[in-house]
Amino acid sequence: MSESALLRISGLGRDYDRGGVRALHDVSFSAEQGQTVALIGPSGCGKSTLLSLIGLLDRPDRGRIEVAGIDLATVRRGPEFRARQIGFVFQFHHMVPTMTLQENVEAPMVALGVPRAERRDRAAELLARMDLGSRAGFLPTHVSGGERQRAAVARALVNRPALVLADEPTGNLDSVNGERVMALLVHHARSQRALLLVATHNPQIAAAMDRRIELRDGAQV
Ligand SMILES: Nc1ncnc2c1ncn2[C@@H]1O[C@H](COP(=O)(O)OP(=O)(O)OP(=O)(O)O)[C@@H](O)[C@H]1O
Ligand SMILES: [Mg+2]
Repeated sequence: MSESALLRISGLGRDYDRGGVRALHDVSFSAEQGQTVALIGPSGCGKSTLLSLIGLLDRPDRGRIEVAGIDLATVRRGPEFRARQIGFVFQFHHMVPTMTLQENVEAPMVALGVPRAERRDRAAELLARMDLGSRAGFLPTHVSGGERQRAAVARALVNRPALVLADEPTGNLDSVNGERVMALLVHHARSQRALLLVATHNPQIAAAMDRRIELRDGAQV
């Protein structure tokens, strides 16, 4: 494995006890800063499970994950580590419904103690870049699905994370909005030298990434 890998995974395994499902089995790979990587494979092969483990939303039963040289098993303040290092985009946006787009985008900066004025400026600037300037004060339910997903991307990128995890980020969008969301994510990876890991069923998206990692029945193909 390369010394400069931002993400290193070795012997990773996760079982879901109820039903005895072995969701991930002996997954090992590493990936570098600035790379775009597609995570592919049929439904149920373990893509979301893998992203949840890397994103500290779940803990593995076996193996090890390192992000920027830090073993995730040693991380005590998960939410703070995630806010600093990792941006997560879900298939369904997971925006807080009672907060405006602007407030949703500011939320990860609150976790890091960014001063209020700076939060406001950074969120507004990012929303404007995503063509959402006129929607910043709206609630997520009062904008379109594409606008909501672009705001979710803004929220994921606002702390300039070194690692961006996206789980079917375009699964719910038409092709124009899907391309837009992917372009924003890839631009972040290229301009910030971040690592982008995208779980996708879309062959065109997979083909456009630098690398593809394929899973089947929880194991690497
Ligand atoms: N919370 C859970 N409890 C029990 N089993 C689960 C749980 N989450 C996922 N699984 C099982 O683990 C396996 C991997 O699921 P996962 O959601 O990671 O697949 P996926 O590749 O993301 O699929 P899709 O493409 O449909 O999103 C599947 O067999 C699934 O049924
Ligand atoms: Mg999934």
